[in-house]
Amino acid sequence: MLKAVKNNLPKPWSPESWAQKPALQLPDYADPAALAAVTDTLKNYPPLVFAGEARRLKKSLAKVAAGEAFLLQAGDCAESFAEFHPQNIRDTFRVILQMAIVMTFAAGIPVVKVGRIAGQFAKPRSDKNETRNGLTLPSYRGDIINGMEFTSDSRRPDPQRMIKAYNQSAATLNLVRAFAQGGYADLRRVNKWMLDFVKDHPLSERYREITRQLDQALAFMAAAGITAENAPQIREVDFFTAHESLLLPYEQALTRVDSTTGDWYDVSAHFLWLGDRTRQPDGAHVEFLRGVKNPIGIKCGPSLSTEELSRLLDILNPDNEPGRITLISRLGHEKAADALPRLIRAVKKEGRNVAWVCDPMHGNTTTSSTSYKTRAFKNILAEVKSFFAVHHAEGTHPGGVHLELTGQDVTECTGGAHKITEDNLSERYHTHCDPRLNASQGLELAFLIADELHTHYKRRPALADDEMTAES
Ligand code: PEP
Ligand code: CO
Repeated sequence: MLKAVKNNLPKPWSPESWAQKPALQLPDYADPAALAAVTDTLKNYPPLVFAGEARRLKKSLAKVAAGEAFLLQAGDCAESFAEFHPQNIRDTFRVILQMAIVMTFAAGIPVVKVGRIAGQFAKPRSDKNETRNGLTLPSYRGDIINGMEFTSDSRRPDPQRMIKAYNQSAATLNLVRAFAQGGYADLRRVNKWMLDFVKDHPLSERYREITRQLDQALAFMAAAGITAENAPQIREVDFFTAHESLLLPYEQALTRVDSTTGDWYDVSAHFLWLGDRTRQPDGAHVEFLRGVKNPIGIKCGPSLSTEELSRLLDILNPDNEPGRITLISRLGHEKAADALPRLIRAVKKEGRNVAWVCDPMHGNTTTSSTSYKTRAFKNILAEVKSFFAVHHAEGTHPGGVHLELTGQDVTECTGGAHKITEDNLSERYHTHCDPRLNASQGLELAFLIADELHTHYKRRPALADDEMTAES
C-alpha cells in the first residue's frame, strides 16, 4: 500500500534536476567556473517572454489539437551572429505572414504563427568531431556554443557566447514585437506583398485567384466599416517564438517562477521543443521540459516507437492538458506513409490530447553531387502531402507544418518554380546548418498546403469570417 502511494507521488523537479540525468548533445565546457559565471549573469537578466503569453499560445495550440486551427511554425535552422540584421528579421517575419494569410484563407480557420527565431541557436550534431585534412576538431554546434570557422580557437565551446545569443534574441524579439503590433503586419499590406509576389511568379495564374479573392474580402470589409482604424485584428498579429530546448545550462538560467500562478516557465521562448536526438525518456532534456509549463513540441523521427512515445507523453503531459504537446513528425517522404499511422493510432487509442504537425525538412536532407547538404522541394512537398493523406485516412487533424526557411533569396534547397538545380546551390548558400527554403519556395509551399487544406476542409475560399480576421 505504502509502496503504491510512494510511486504515485510526483518525482521532485527543479530547474537543475536535469543535471542528474544522462545528457546527450551538450558541449564540454573546459572551465566550469567560467560557465557558472555566465549562467549566474543570465539568471539576473530579464525574461524574453512572459508566462501569460506562453499560456495564450497553449490555448491556441489546444485549438490546433481540436482541429479548429492550423499551426505554421517556421524560421531558421540555426540563427547566427553573422546573419543578424534587421532586414533578415523583417524578411523572415514577412514571408511567414504571407504564408499564413494564404493558409488562413484556404482553410477558413485561424493560423497560429510561431517563429523559429529569437533563440534558435543551438544545434544537435550527428558527430561529436569533424575531421578535415587530418585535423580533428569539435563539431560546430551553433553560435551560442562555438564558431563555425574550422580552427581550434573558434570550435572551442565558449560560455560567453550565451550572453551574445541572449542579447541578439532580445533585440530580435523587440523588432518582431514591433512588426507584429506596430502596423507592419496590417492585412492589407500583407496582401499587397502577395499581389506583388504572384505577379512575378512562374505559377502566377494558379495563385492569382486567391489573392484576388482576398483583396475583394478586404475591400468588402472596408466598405462594411471594418478597417485597421477600428479593428485591431486587421493591423496586428499574434506572433510567438520557439527553439529547440538543447543547451540546458542556458535554458535553466532562463527558467523562472511565474508570479501569477507559482508555476515554472522557461522564459527564453514561448514554445520549446525536444529534438529527435535528445528525446530519451530517462534523459536530461526530457527531465528539464517535464517541469516547465510552456507548450512543448516533441520531434518524432523514424526510430520513435509507440511505447517510447507513450512514455514520453506520460512524463511530459501527465494530466493530458490540451495545448501542452505538439507532436512534430519528421519521418522523410518515403517513410511517412508507413510510419505515421502507427504513431497516430497509438496516441488516439490512449485518448491523448496532442496537436499533430509535419516537419517535412529533417527527414529529407541529402548531399548534392556538388557536396552541399540540400533538400529537394518535391520531397518536402511529398512528405506534406503524405501527412495530409494519412491524417485524412485516420480521421485525425493535420494540425500544421514546421519548416526551415528564410526570407532571403538563398539557394539551399533544390527545385521549386524557379527550378534551383544542384549547380545553383553554390550561388547563395548561406545557412549555418541545414538548407532552408527561400521566400519564393516558402510561399509556393504555402499555396500547395492551401490546396491540401482546402480539400481537407471541403470549403471553397470564402469571404473572411471573423476567425480569419481575428487571427490571420
Ligand atoms: C531541427 O529542428 O533543427 C532539428 C535538428 O530537428 P530534429 O531534432 O528533428 O533532427
Ligand atoms: Co535543422
